[in-house]
Amino acid sequence: MILVPLVALAACGGAGNYAAQTPTPTAGPPAASVDPLRNAAATAGKWVGAAVQSGYLASEPDYVAALSRHFSYVTAEYQMKWDPIQRERGVFDFSGGDAIVAFAEANGMRVKGHALVWHGATPSWVGTLSPRDLRDAVDNHIRTVAGHYRDHVAAWDVVNEAVAADGSGLRDTVFSRGLGPDYIADAFRTAREADPQALLFYNEYDAERKGPKSDRVYELVKDLKLRGVPIDGVGMQMHVEATSYPQPADIAANMHRLVALGLLVNISEMDVRIRTASGTTAQRLELQKRVFHDIIAVCAAEPRCHAVTFWGFTDKHSWIDSFFGADAPLLFDEGYRAKPSFFGVQDAFLGR
Ligand code: XIL
Repeated sequence: MILVPLVALAACGGAGNYAAQTPTPTAGPPAASVDPLRNAAATAGKWVGAAVQSGYLASEPDYVAALSRHFSYVTAEYQMKWDPIQRERGVFDFSGGDAIVAFAEANGMRVKGHALVWHGATPSWVGTLSPRDLRDAVDNHIRTVAGHYRDHVAAWDVVNEAVAADGSGLRDTVFSRGLGPDYIADAFRTAREADPQALLFYNEYDAERKGPKSDRVYELVKDLKLRGVPIDGVGMQMHVEATSYPQPADIAANMHRLVALGLLVNISEMDVRIRTASGTTAQRLELQKRVFHDIIAVCAAEPRCHAVTFWGFTDKHSWIDSFFGADAPLLFDEGYRAKPSFFGVQDAFLGR
């Protein structure tokens, strides 16, 4: 979405009508002319990824060009979730995910599957099953999907967002209600059997800073490790707001305690909202650059943080606009020009 100063938003009574008449205020260099981000990431020994949608791969040459130049890792933003793959019980459609894998393989990129068990994007039929049928359905879904992508994905988000928002315990979902807390351990065991090579991650949002939720995630994965459940690491989604982002020292401390359990960590879905930041557009973009820089620098400095994935890469296509309001949360603007945030990430990978 196009970025407009807050004062202008207020004057026009909404982002939609004003944004439509405002030219994109950043005029950075085209994606095609800046050094590939994947090279900077490789210097730091990291994979750099973006969430992608197969529709844009097929329809937008600029999208394809920027993606293949700058990223070494892709995640399906939607197409490997339960609903698109098995909307009807027993009927599997891998077309969207397969297109993403084919693109990645043609461009020398790794793929992360996302996500095998998540309360979001789960079709309604799953909620109608008896506990026994639900167990069979989860088992079958994981085996079929992870089996299908075996040898084609480097990693899976096996379980996504299983902890309650306030950190009080597990989230109340169709899975926790029907199967009890052990559905998480079972999902990891099944995923390992279906794809013994893939790294298996637990993925969570808002568990980056110190607090009840990150504590609960830590306890959860510690318990899995102690019980010998095959989990390789934890993804920190990192959907943050520039005005209240988790402090780098807190993120580092949180990563350290997970690493001390023998786990890998990664930043799995980063974007930085600037809608509520004050100042001129240039100031807000500079703030966004600093936030991206300082958070990516934490991963760059942590040897066991192996990858950083952004939840998209161009402000033209971001889930943020529809879920949080018009914003400009990513590394390239709507015209695929590199924003200050792009250079913040590049600097962090290069240790600058
Ligand atoms: C979002 C996608 O970006 C949207 O396109 C989709 O409609 C809903 O899901 N945490 C996650 C992601 O783990 O799967 C979510 O992705 C964003 C929040």
